[in-house]
Amino acid sequence: MTVFLDAVTAVLGSNGLLTDPADLVPYASDWRGKIDGAPLAVARPSSTAQVAAVVRLCLEHGVAIVPQGGNTGLAGGATPDRSGTQLVVALDRMTRILDVDPIDNVIVVEAGCILTTAQQAATDIGRLLPLSFGAEGSARVGGAVATNAGGINVLRYGNTRQLVLGIEVVLADGHVLDLMSRLRKDNAGYDLKQLFIGSEGTLGIVTAVCLRLSPRIVQMQTAVLQMASLGGVLNLYAMLSADLGEFLSSFELISPQARALSVAHLPKSNWPFSDGWAVLVEVGSGSAHIDLGGLLETALATAIEAGIVEDAVIAQSDAQRDAFWLVRESITEGERAAGPSIKHDVSVPISCLPALIEACEADIIATFPGARANVFGHVGDGNVHFNVIPSLEQRAEPGFEARVNACIHDRVAAAGGSITAEHGVGQLRVQELAHYKSPDVIKLMRQIKRAIDPRQAMNPGKVLADERATNPPA
Ligand code: FAD
Ligand code: MLT
Ligand code: ZN
Repeated sequence: MTVFLDAVTAVLGSNGLLTDPADLVPYASDWRGKIDGAPLAVARPSSTAQVAAVVRLCLEHGVAIVPQGGNTGLAGGATPDRSGTQLVVALDRMTRILDVDPIDNVIVVEAGCILTTAQQAATDIGRLLPLSFGAEGSARVGGAVATNAGGINVLRYGNTRQLVLGIEVVLADGHVLDLMSRLRKDNAGYDLKQLFIGSEGTLGIVTAVCLRLSPRIVQMQTAVLQMASLGGVLNLYAMLSADLGEFLSSFELISPQARALSVAHLPKSNWPFSDGWAVLVEVGSGSAHIDLGGLLETALATAIEAGIVEDAVIAQSDAQRDAFWLVRESITEGERAAGPSIKHDVSVPISCLPALIEACEADIIATFPGARANVFGHVGDGNVHFNVIPSLEQRAEPGFEARVNACIHDRVAAAGGSITAEHGVGQLRVQELAHYKSPDVIKLMRQIKRAIDPRQAMNPGKVLADERATNPPA
């Protein structure tokens, strides 16, 4: 390995390769501290040419690669295994904004650009990059593309997939595949970029991205609604969708437990209600000539009259809006501070969502007494995070997590849902993916993996089981 590491240093310079165990620590475990790995080293290239050169060296020396962006992923996809043989390729020195164009309505960035930096660059030219989620201050655009991240604005603008117009990828053989289009219409053959979006580093390393921008929002209204019951969420969603149309950008569900965990974690918070299920709603418009406040007030009054919503508070200032969002976006940190949890990131048809939550809550009480549910999510997308916080005894119980997973995911599968709506498979859900997806789908995914990465060097053991041991490359 010394020969290999010397060769990588020759390409990247001494600053570009970390080998000191203390320097490897931030790259070795996942954000939750749930999965620990042991990287051989961390390569930090500063250009696409350097990424390609490192990948070629990996190919030559038989070294497996783990691409890493901001390391905020929640499925262990960016964490190497414990063998001490895998090279983390971190994109954290490739942070440049390459272009922001108000006519083409695009932003072009290197893959290591932090998401909030890209959002700000769009704002600076009077445009909106709508991709937004709690980890946006650390997550990198390449990581968002590799996970097809969702977040709080999917309802109106779609997932990352819908925002990507072009990408540049370094393939497993070190070839740079230039798919850097900024076209909105292009039916010339297969849309290959879609294969790499959401592939979690298993097919190549994304080095640059072109994202579409939207018109900037000039007025926005944000409200917290106290629900009379969880069941009313479907009617509320239908009513607000009908009344507010395309202005509706967020519809986030927050359980009493989720609010409590978040508020307990924050030094100071401003949330209007102290119990019950809540929904955080946001509407925005690019036009100043629409009475958005009036529209929202009328819609909420109708929901209150119908008995679906008990009470509602519309933010009266940017500071109050930020305070509402802070509580929503701090749930994950509050949950982490409360100890290890068993996360679920599931989606079902929206019509099935309240029944799914109620059934899973009943299962937890009946089958896993002592465990607590922490429920929140992007209900307008049919995506709920049904997380389970085990008791101290349950944490130590062998097989407990697998039993909880099976309980929740069997219900999701029965409702025609997905066991990962937005966080991805990573290494956390590999076996469950093989269980819940049809064998035909897994077989075709394998064929694609073998065609693009025949030596299985790109993030082995993520998304699909690592088949190198049983089926070594010729
Ligand atoms: P990493 O964690 O570094 O990597 C994630 C995966 O992508 C790994 O498989 C890695 O190998 C691969 N990868 C990273 N960069 C590249 C690259 N350049 N080329 C190829 N592969 C690459 N996710 C949501 O979808 N919605 C949310 O609302 C949301 N909220 C979050 C809130 C918090 C507090 C936290 C901690 C996480 C949240 N996440 C959410 C999960 C996470 O932030 C996203 O998945 C994010 O897109 C990961 O970006 P990253 O740069 O940190 O990627
Ligand atoms: C969220 O919706 O806040 C994220 O997906 C993070 C999480 O699930 O904890
Ligand atoms: Zn989420």
